[in-house]
Amino acid sequence: MKPSLPEALQIDLRRINRDIENIIRYDKDVPRTSVLARSVLQLIRSGGKRLRPVLVIAGSRFGSAEPGRRSYQLAAAAEFIHAASLIHDDIIDRSELRRGAPSLHTQTGVTAAVHIGNYMSARVVELLSGYTSNHERFVHDLSALATAQLCLGEYEQLQHAYDYDLSLEQYLEKTRRKTAQLMAACLRVGALSADAKPETAAMLYRFGEALGMAFQIEDDILDYSATAEALGKPAGSDLARGQVTLPVLYALEDPDLGPCIRSIQPGSPAADIDAVLAAIRRGDALERSDLMRRQYLREALLAVEPLRSHPAYGQLEVLHRYFGGKTA
Ligand code: FPP
Ligand code: MG
Repeated sequence: MKPSLPEALQIDLRRINRDIENIIRYDKDVPRTSVLARSVLQLIRSGGKRLRPVLVIAGSRFGSAEPGRRSYQLAAAAEFIHAASLIHDDIIDRSELRRGAPSLHTQTGVTAAVHIGNYMSARVVELLSGYTSNHERFVHDLSALATAQLCLGEYEQLQHAYDYDLSLEQYLEKTRRKTAQLMAACLRVGALSADAKPETAAMLYRFGEALGMAFQIEDDILDYSATAEALGKPAGSDLARGQVTLPVLYALEDPDLGPCIRSIQPGSPAADIDAVLAAIRRGDALERSDLMRRQYLREALLAVEPLRSHPAYGQLEVLHRYFGGKTA
């Protein structure tokens, strides 16, 4: 059987999961049996690929020390930020399913879920500031940079819903903020937490950013090409919610299809949305989006070319294959 990503990288997934759960288990202000603690634990245990913690640990292998307690704490913090953002994302997107199971707000109600997401992101920033000493300012990468950029990325996405004049640059900037910068920061903080050289950490940042761009573009393509079963949520929901992703930007260039896409507005009948979805799938927009995705995968490898002789370079090859899928 094909090894999982943590197995291929020889990363102790159980330790990562334990550290993530410990954030809530040992929170002195939250009783273990409270709805809050149980909801967070349920969310964390509901699955997820743990990509961000894996990136932290892979980054730490570029340091002079074996990944220690600090690297694992940072890995857990990265997943906590990501999980908090998904609670809010599902509320904003009105997504009732996450990882094939009912999303948190459908169980707790929207107001409680907003509070749970707020608590998780605030607590993690507090924890991260506790890990920081004067010469370890890099942990701010995760707390300040990543969380603010995530919120800004989501805000841009909201502002541009049904905005069919969105430019490619605006789409790429939003994608960078929403997805790529957190992945990039994970590799960088991992490296710096294990005393890697700043130049090495900077290269890993660029590698992670390019992989993150490829990852989000793939997510945007899959919304058109995958089945609801494979996605764990309804397919085609981006278009229905007015999300102008890369496939839509390319499809808008088609003189016949462009006006049909522009006619999709809040409350458009499902039949109209389905017809546009089918037309986008038939055209070349998904293929062109995939070309852009592969371009980012090539960029990722170029960014770490100087690290080829590093003993941990194999970690990057594994990550690259994983993010690249079969077609890279
Ligand atoms: C998934 O996008 C969502 C994100 C990558 C980021 C969401 C960020 C926020 C809602 C800001 C709030 C942040 C904090 C820390 C509370 P998607 O909808 O394209 O992917 P999906 O298919 O997984 O839903
Ligand atoms: Mg979403």
